[in-house]
Amino acid sequence: MILQQASKRATELREIINQHNYHYYVLDEPDIPDAEYDRLLRELTDIETEFPELIVSSSPTQRVGATPLSEFEQVKHVVPMLSLGNAFNEEDMQAFNKRINERLETERVAYSAETKLDGLAVSILYDNAELKIAATRGDGYTGENVTHNIRTISSIPLNLLGDDLPELLEVRGEVFMTHKSFEELNNIQRNNNDKLFVNPRNAAAGSLRQLDPKITAQRSLSFFAYGIGDYKGKVDFKSHTQILKQLKLWGIPVSPETKEMNSIQDCLDYYRDISERRTSLPYEIDGVVFKVNNLLQQQAMGFVSRSPRWAIAYKFPPVEEMTKVLDIEVQVGRTGAITPVARLEPVFVGGVTITNATLHNLDDIKRKDVRIGDWVYIRRAGDVIPEVVRVIKEKRRRVTEFTMPEVCPVCGADIERQEGEAVFRCMGGISCSAQNLQAIIHFVSRKALNIDGLGEKIIIQLIETGLVNSVADLYTLADKRDTLSKLERMGKKSANNLIEALEKSKKTTLERFIYALGIREVGEATARSLAQYFKAFEPIESASTDELEQISDIGPVVAHNIHSFFQQKHNKEIIEALKKVIHWEAVETNLLSSLEGMTFVITGTLSSMGRDEAKQRLLALGAKVSGSVSKKTNYVVYGDSPGSKYEKAMQLGVKTLTEQELLKLLAD
Ligand code: IVH
Repeated sequence: MILQQASKRATELREIINQHNYHYYVLDEPDIPDAEYDRLLRELTDIETEFPELIVSSSPTQRVGATPLSEFEQVKHVVPMLSLGNAFNEEDMQAFNKRINERLETERVAYSAETKLDGLAVSILYDNAELKIAATRGDGYTGENVTHNIRTISSIPLNLLGDDLPELLEVRGEVFMTHKSFEELNNIQRNNNDKLFVNPRNAAAGSLRQLDPKITAQRSLSFFAYGIGDYKGKVDFKSHTQILKQLKLWGIPVSPETKEMNSIQDCLDYYRDISERRTSLPYEIDGVVFKVNNLLQQQAMGFVSRSPRWAIAYKFPPVEEMTKVLDIEVQVGRTGAITPVARLEPVFVGGVTITNATLHNLDDIKRKDVRIGDWVYIRRAGDVIPEVVRVIKEKRRRVTEFTMPEVCPVCGADIERQEGEAVFRCMGGISCSAQNLQAIIHFVSRKALNIDGLGEKIIIQLIETGLVNSVADLYTLADKRDTLSKLERMGKKSANNLIEALEKSKKTTLERFIYALGIREVGEATARSLAQYFKAFEPIESASTDELEQISDIGPVVAHNIHSFFQQKHNKEIIEALKKVIHWEAVETNLLSSLEGMTFVITGTLSSMGRDEAKQRLLALGAKVSGSVSKKTNYVVYGDSPGSKYEKAMQLGVKTLTEQELLKLLAD
């Protein structure tokens, strides 16, 4: 064959193979026997071996790259990858539907219904119809570049098919493992004396987060798309179901269970139907998802914190199992909270073997009357910590009551319970090694400073050998490279890697830094609000509780926690030391929700739009719109003949905006 002929045939074969793939994976209607498919693929491989200059990266022969990575790169999501609010029963669903109808001022809303696959979310970017970058969800704003592994998943096209191909398309969906593939994988693991995966979700996650694509290629992973992120193209999308249909036409697999619903009653029926068929589906699902179908309506609904108001996950009830309480011990958390934990006779629940379950606090133990030796029901829902639901009293024989220790079992400091609080706390603070350990674990965790190579066992060694007393000491390890490399489970290479990871962590974001400090009840969302509101660290350190309460999702308790955290001498010292080494980029205002967390009140007549339109536009940018003015109101927008709300704003010193100023704000 001459080059020209070979080139023509290779192009032809790629097209034929892609078409068969489409029939097999997307339409679920294989149109040729496997042997014939293999023959076509072999013919293409042969041509490419003879004429390597014809190889293109999107050829179906090029799914597995040659070289493993040494680490994952970070990828910033242009449009954040959010999570979903949950419903657990019909009332929650009715309330969801009511909220939507009220906000949209309608009587009936159409939804898209989908299954909630239990895998991991990924984003796949097609640039001019060619697969360019794929990333994990990560913290929703930054994920890991897993392009090399996503390419090995046969059902994900390397090139989009069909007409009206988009200039840019970011497909979002779930990577998962079918029950069958999971069983097969664990059989292989068992035969090789390798560790078994606990469930399909973990197996999928473990397979996707591999540096070597050859390993991922051996694991049979599947993918279903459930939406898009960034998009530039001719097709003008009006509804969510239209998006999913179009994705399918472009060759992207979409769950066959996706349906359009005309009412909330349809949704409830869909939930019932899927619940009944759940165990016969070839993959694990943990609920169903409903999304407002009309995209304009979605926009008008906007977001709360990290979830869209226009979608909800209706979860299946958790799985329960019976087992025996062998003992009740207490654990000391990062904030000193003492949590009683039931040690259990191992029991298999919802795909995982459980040996511990939380008992939350002493009141909970009393209320449920759980005693050591009791038979209990335990419950596991999704990835949350399993809990003891109730005691099986009929089975009670010889039991002992639990008593709360008077001193911390770890550091010996007093244990106290504050007024009005359910939890007991160790008063040892950072001098309690359990609290200190947890504080360090939290500081290095993925959503905080994300320092690889610092597992719990290593941290314990660092503390025990006196190399590290506080999080600030982590950054002195670079000067102690030799001592570090002599620790158990360390060695030169790991020590160097750790020092490099520490070095990398010095550049972070303000919100991660705030979150990493581990202030009580300051999670990711609150850390983000603080960063967005104050834009710099110093004003947060010195903020009064009143100032902190200006932020809409911060109430008096959290404001007090933040304020008093920064008053502690010990914390001040650590922060001073950290500030010398850690830097963050200037805080960007999140475009999607630039008014996130702000509360507006509108009064008077606006000339360029109705009050309702103004409200919808503010909501779409993440703001709240309230009917009455209070200290927490950020802005009062006033039009012609404003009423008492305007006066109230003046009295309280709330900022006011004219219509012109509002328009400018919306345009910005
Ligand atoms: S929509 C803004 N649809 O559930 C909407 N998510 O809690 C974001 N998931 O991270 C997601 N099936 O991993 C959506 N049909 C579906 C889903 C789904 C599974 C997962 C996904 C996401 C999490 C949201």
